[in-house]
Amino acid sequence: MVQLNTEFAGRTYHSPFMNASGVHCGLHKLLDDLVGAEAATYVTKSATVEKRSGNPDPRYYNSDQNSLNSMGLPNEGVEYYLDYVTKDPHSKNRLFSISPMTFYDLPILAEKINASGFDGLIEINLSCPNVVGKPQIGYDFEQMAAYLKAANELFEPHTYGVKLPPYFDFAHFDTVAEILNRYPIAFVNSINSVGNALMIHEQQTAIFPKHGHGGLGGAFIKPIALSNVHAFHQRLNANIEIIGTGGITNGRDAFEHILCGASMVQLGTVLAQKGTGIFKIIENELKAEMAKYGYESIDDFKGKLQYIQENDAISGASH
Ligand SMILES: Cc1cc2nc3c(=O)[nH]c(=O)nc-3n(C[C@H](O)[C@H](O)[C@H](O)COP(=O)(O)O)c2cc1C
Repeated sequence: MVQLNTEFAGRTYHSPFMNASGVHCGLHKLLDDLVGAEAATYVTKSATVEKRSGNPDPRYYNSDQNSLNSMGLPNEGVEYYLDYVTKDPHSKNRLFSISPMTFYDLPILAEKINASGFDGLIEINLSCPNVVGKPQIGYDFEQMAAYLKAANELFEPHTYGVKLPPYFDFAHFDTVAEILNRYPIAFVNSINSVGNALMIHEQQTAIFPKHGHGGLGGAFIKPIALSNVHAFHQRLNANIEIIGTGGITNGRDAFEHILCGASMVQLGTVLAQKGTGIFKIIENELKAEMAKYGYESIDDFKGKLQYIQENDAISGASH
């Protein structure tokens, strides 16, 4: 009998599936939908100290199984999301995303969260590619180390994690893992959208902000997400868990993320495109994939990616 029950950061979930921050979570009503669907839990829209309207439209574009967005962190402000999570009877199992716009926002956000009594997990977004004039913190390792040091002083150990941008070089995986391993963080979430991609519709950019440059999500980015989940699984302290995000459109994709070491997986573009009904569908697809390999639980295959041996032939693969 295949079971999807998952342990994550000392909490138990009925499955590994949840939304990705920014998708179907910006308003109380949308969070209600996630609670009503088969999602294991939710993460709130990345909150800033003050409400923000974000970038001008058009700022989101769907192309097949992919998306390009330059939302620019539109959100209702930290109090609005705290109001929701603190009234939620399952708050301990929820994730609360914050996006400090400056280093000095972090203590302000932390003070509000701590004062609210929220007992869930905090996801610190260090990787938004879409705020004009603000480079991604996750690509500036000195700044990133400073944010982690501050977070460690502001939050209880093992109650917070970081949302990372994608990295493309082994030297960067090493450096980032070394910084993260200094602190008692509960989790990392890899990856945010792949920053500053460009899509063209007819002869025009598909979105308006930044001359059409925006964060890429969906099927295109799965191989990048998998490499990041795998690289951090290899490098992080064993008690730091990984949320796999990026390019998950079906149960097979989720299976691959878990094989690379993810404990939970988040749905972004596919949820934006298909709505909350996707949770039930993707749960069943993952169960079918597990049954195919004789796995009965997530732990049976989590982090157990097999490496092809030299001169092995892959049946059916072209090269
Ligand atoms: C419309 C939209 C808004 C997003 N907003 C946020 C956000 O506020 N905070 C965040 O950490 N990531 C945000 N993301 C990134 C997603 O959480 C996710 O990391 C990314 O889309 C990759 O997953 P996917 O391939 O399933 O779409 C956003 C993505 C989209 C498409």
